[in-house]
Amino acid sequence: MIPESFIQDLLDRVDIVDLIDGYVRLKKAGANYSACCPFHNEKTPSFTVSPTKQFYHCFGCGAHGTAISFLMEYQGLGFVDAVKELAGKVGMQVPEQERGSRPEERGSLRQLTELMARAAQYYKDQLKQSPKAIDYLKGRGLTGEICARFGIGYAPDGWQNLAAIFPHYDAPELAAAGLVIENEQGRRYDRFRDRIMFPIINPKGEVIAFGGRIIGQGEPKYLNSPETPIFEKGREAYGLPQARQALREENRVIVVEGYMDVVALAQHGVGNAVATLGTATTPTHVQKLLKQVDRIVYCFDGDNAGRKAAWRALENSLEALADNKSVGFAFLPDPEDPDSYVRQFGKDAFRTLIAQATPLSDFLLRELGQRCDLTSSEGKARLIHEAKPLLTRLPTPLLRLQLVKRLAEASGFSQTEVERLCDIRGYAPPAPPKAPRQAPSLARILLRLALQRPALAARIPLTHLSPGPERSILEAIAQSLTSLAPNPGYAQLREALRGHPLESQVDTLAGELIGMEMDEELVESEFAAALERLQEGDQKVAFAALQAKARQFGVAGLSEEEKQAYLTLLSQKKEH
Ligand code: UTP
Ligand code: MN
Repeated sequence: MIPESFIQDLLDRVDIVDLIDGYVRLKKAGANYSACCPFHNEKTPSFTVSPTKQFYHCFGCGAHGTAISFLMEYQGLGFVDAVKELAGKVGMQVPEQERGSRPEERGSLRQLTELMARAAQYYKDQLKQSPKAIDYLKGRGLTGEICARFGIGYAPDGWQNLAAIFPHYDAPELAAAGLVIENEQGRRYDRFRDRIMFPIINPKGEVIAFGGRIIGQGEPKYLNSPETPIFEKGREAYGLPQARQALREENRVIVVEGYMDVVALAQHGVGNAVATLGTATTPTHVQKLLKQVDRIVYCFDGDNAGRKAAWRALENSLEALADNKSVGFAFLPDPEDPDSYVRQFGKDAFRTLIAQATPLSDFLLRELGQRCDLTSSEGKARLIHEAKPLLTRLPTPLLRLQLVKRLAEASGFSQTEVERLCDIRGYAPPAPPKAPRQAPSLARILLRLALQRPALAARIPLTHLSPGPERSILEAIAQSLTSLAPNPGYAQLREALRGHPLESQVDTLAGELIGMEMDEELVESEFAAALERLQEGDQKVAFAALQAKARQFGVAGLSEEEKQAYLTLLSQKKEH
């Protein structure tokens, strides 16, 4: 855990404009800065950075957040890593207040990555000295340059080679990192022996695992690091750091199955490929990738196993889809894999194949169609039955509508019937914006002011507002003030609300504030006016209640206090 106060100080120190300008060229636009959004593809800039409130907001895709969120999104970092990176940029040291119970763990994670880095360097050095390994890689069409780019190395034959670089060969960390294996007698030996080594590198550039290929024939063909505290297979993709620039340029990622596929594609100038690590594509993979690009093309072998892998990938992609994101499936002619294909037919042929990938909807219908006999009515009913769990997981109204239409065609049911059978509501086109804009409610006005100056939330008698999202957000703001330094800015507040259920509503509202620069005095006077309106509203309500009671029971039915209040309110009314 990083102490909350450190986050607050850090946000105070950083300038979000400087930070973002280092990655995306910003242009001054009035009081703010703008650029084409780095998080989605666009031609006219809708990405705005507010220097006064220290946040960014994209009117196109809704991306929103602080300097910390920017690094997380842009570099695919976790929160802690983003904070560390940001702190490094402004020369602050992240205090080592570890997660209470296990202070050792953090330390040991770093220890593990250090061991992995040393091992990776060792394997690289060994490659230079092994003509056999070099010949193997050359034979697979790889140049020294590409091998260096992927940090490829060689683990020589022998049982305890690593003892040469780790004098404490018995250290428990070596086993924890998966570099050595212990047999039943407690004797240790190197996990990787006589293998070509592919380091798996995380977005921070740290080696977190290895895949080792046997030279020539043998079992297992690839030996991988076990899952360790620093390596979780279902979260990592091989080749991601090397692909980063190509992903940005092409806004599309190609997902393949093998290490060699990634490296061979890069060798032939296709830099935007990554591989899952001997596992199916997981929803986490898909989410991570779709944060960086708008399109995923899965490129699997044309055999049965490839089709199965593609179907798993489809199932695991559904939930991460959005209408501006797409997924396609490219199948290679059996028995090729991307490596053999690109070597044989070249980059252009491969690119064509990717460009002509089957859309998700086609692949889905084709596969389901093959499972059901669509000439019989049982088969048609089965089609809908099988499609149902997939459709309900799709969060994209447009794609769902398209699928519903095609399912209706294939099954002979009507569109409404398909929707009803699948328990989904039809797609309602977004309502046209209401012509005359409604005046914002009092709660909305107060909330806007509190987003500009969070400390104001503490001065609002919140229970006097009618319940609703605005009031809930104001309550959350007031609540977080207790843990923030006095007079926090918007960015500090926004970080304190990280993970709050109302987070995205805050983002939208804060986005509306762009272009509404108010100086401090104006904020204060608007706030005073709003509080006054709130009080007047209270009085009206109170007056109406007292009046109703007086009508029903006569003034005598009021208590002494109520009588006093009634008379005061009555006289105030007359004054107006
Ligand atoms: P493949 O068997 O398709 O190998 O496994 P490949 O990528 O074509 O390798 P080359 O071209 O023969 O060198 C695809 C992926 O599955 C995992 C690896 O991640 C591999 O890249 N795998 C495969 C293993 O983890 N272990 C194995 O024994 C085999
Ligand atoms: Mn292969």
